[in-house]
Amino acid sequence: MRKGLLILLALLFIAAQAKAQSDPLIVNVEGRRTISLDGRWKAIVDPYGIGEEQKYFRDAHQRTASDLIEYNFDTADWLDVPGDWNSQRERLFLYEGAVWYRRLFDYQRSAGKRLFVYFGAANYIADVYLNGERIGRHEGGFTPFNFEITDRVRDGSNSLIVRVDNRRLREGVPTLVTDWWNYGGLTRSVALVEVPETFIQDYFIQLQKGTRDRIAGWVKLNGKRLVQRVTIRIPELNLSQAVNTDANGYAAFSFQAKLDLWTPENPKLYDVQLVAETDSVTDQIGFRSIEVRGTDILLNGRPVFLRGICLHEEAPFRSGRAFSREEARTLLGWAKELGCNFVRLAHYPHNEQMVREADRMGLLVWAEVPVYWGIQWESRETLANALNQLTEEITRDKNRAAIAIWSVANETPQSEARLRFLRSLIERARELDPTRLVSAAMLPRRPAEDIYVIDDPLGQYVDVLGCNEYVGWYDGLPEKADRVQWQIAYQKPLIISEFGAGAVYGLHGDRLTRWTEEYQEEVYRHQIGMLRRIPLLRGVSPWILMDFRSPRRPLVGIQDFYNRKGVISNRGEKKRAFYVLREFYRELQERSGANVR
Ligand code: GCU
Repeated sequence: MRKGLLILLALLFIAAQAKAQSDPLIVNVEGRRTISLDGRWKAIVDPYGIGEEQKYFRDAHQRTASDLIEYNFDTADWLDVPGDWNSQRERLFLYEGAVWYRRLFDYQRSAGKRLFVYFGAANYIADVYLNGERIGRHEGGFTPFNFEITDRVRDGSNSLIVRVDNRRLREGVPTLVTDWWNYGGLTRSVALVEVPETFIQDYFIQLQKGTRDRIAGWVKLNGKRLVQRVTIRIPELNLSQAVNTDANGYAAFSFQAKLDLWTPENPKLYDVQLVAETDSVTDQIGFRSIEVRGTDILLNGRPVFLRGICLHEEAPFRSGRAFSREEARTLLGWAKELGCNFVRLAHYPHNEQMVREADRMGLLVWAEVPVYWGIQWESRETLANALNQLTEEITRDKNRAAIAIWSVANETPQSEARLRFLRSLIERARELDPTRLVSAAMLPRRPAEDIYVIDDPLGQYVDVLGCNEYVGWYDGLPEKADRVQWQIAYQKPLIISEFGAGAVYGLHGDRLTRWTEEYQEEVYRHQIGMLRRIPLLRGVSPWILMDFRSPRRPLVGIQDFYNRKGVISNRGEKKRAFYVLREFYRELQERSGANVR
């Protein structure tokens, strides 16, 4: 218990030192009393970054006819929040720079209440001001953050101004080049969160590692009255467990429970109530175990094969950053239609709706931080940023049964500095959450034309090996997969975390004509034949469910700034490869167990 507390305190300290000066994250915001600030925000585009010097954050108004003020939020354009700006205005489609958002809101303070402003995410750097005063900065485009504004909010009207800057940074996470659209803005919901003076800020409630009938976890209070009796209730099981928090507001607990375990086929969620003396909150939590035994992945103690697909957070039909529950249901519904029990949410933490929907619909999740390609491995700031994003991701999602794997990287070039950097992330993931598996999407080494070797030194430190490969697309033609031999240096479960091919929906031709549905279908057929020959294979997540926007894909008439490797087009049209993959998964579903041979 002491270790847990020390870790928690250390993490709070590190998080406080990290570039993101936001306050400790409140979990399960949707289970709280919130005032939504979603809707139309005024917006001033600031391509030359003059907003600070012009003091846009003061939201000034002309007082006399002779005043010179060269900005005015009242007469400015507007943008919908949540939502990226690129897909809302043609002139912002390719924009990379700063946009100043303003939201006016009325508020009535009340004794004993504290107020936070909570952001689901803002890509990429957000500077937050309230009534002309700087509240703080957050860096990282895909994780939530919140600032306490109890002492700054006014009775009556308030002016909340947020400068969002989506310029890519060499020392950023991700760095300068990605194969996805740099959607900028307040891409997820913003809300005021009212909590009692002392409230339940954070908690972790899952099965105790290695058990299937014991719940373990901890609860953390925030405020002045930190020593309280907290009761954890699961009404459906007639369970009630009381604990006393210590002088830091922290209490650990564990107790027996006879549970209906969560599985993709039976995604059972329980109402779990946490009742302190000054606060209470209810969450919907599933309980399952996920572990590795030798070369198998075990779900609730039984070997499982992960029938997956990769997804970007691209909105179906309209394109743009997805953020809503219905978009999550559409995308994950297509994954279920494929026969998936697993999704890889690439390459960054998706919005909370996606993860909660995976909980409800029964899909195991590979979650990932955007430590993607050539990160600045030697930079302390870059490491602090990556650690902070990982901490925010795990803080938000650690009570979601669907989350099975924390991935720390995608296709990162091997070096000593990169290995040190990623080992720090792996260590942090395990400190924050010892109940889940850690992985990374690595690249194979190719010592000869038809030999693929997985011997990345990172493989020693992960629980599950992830490997991306594109035999038949970037390497050779579809039939090459029939010849490839795999050599794996570790006796660990392997997930082929990417394979695929591009196709334009509706473009038909022979099986060797690039970009036709037939070519993509051919790659899938030969890939599946190759996958069956990999003894340690315990999962696969082809790249990718749906076509998605990327600035690296300009081929007119074919790509038009879309990566076309979806088995579904961005208009929701299923390509021939969709059915090949579905057929493969149906066959696997009929078998139980962990292998595909
Ligand atoms: C890489 C990378 C993806 C990218 C894909 C592609 O493996 O991980 O982000 O989109 O290949 O080239 O389509």
